[in-house]
Amino acid sequence: MTDYTVEFVGTGESITVSDKQTILKRCIEEGIAQEYSCRVGMCLACSAEIVEGDVVQPAARGLTEQEREDFALTCMARPASDLKLDRGKYPPSIEDDAATSAESSEAAAGDD
Ligand code: FES
Repeated sequence: MTDYTVEFVGTGESITVSDKQTILKRCIEEGIAQEYSCRVGMCLACSAEIVEGDVVQPAARGLTEQEREDFALTCMARPASDLKLDRGKYPPSIEDDAATSAESSEAAAGDD
């Protein structure tokens, strides 16, 4: 078992996570305000951008292979090196969905 340091950029928070633990599990234990919902790698609520370092996340089914290079689903991801993560950052696919939803909402609001 190897312990790694996971630092959350812009927050001053850092935790130690072993290569056998998920980052989310340790966040919950340490009282870090990491969002989550499904905890099975599907909803992307727990996404964080990988600023530096590597993770292992074979069960991150909500991410494409390309997205797995840049984003970690913290409910599934285990560290493979020291990490710097930016919490609350989502892959472009979900950002596009959110933008489309916002546009739809604005259009609907304009119909009044
Ligand atoms: S909590 Fe749903 S993907 Fe991690």
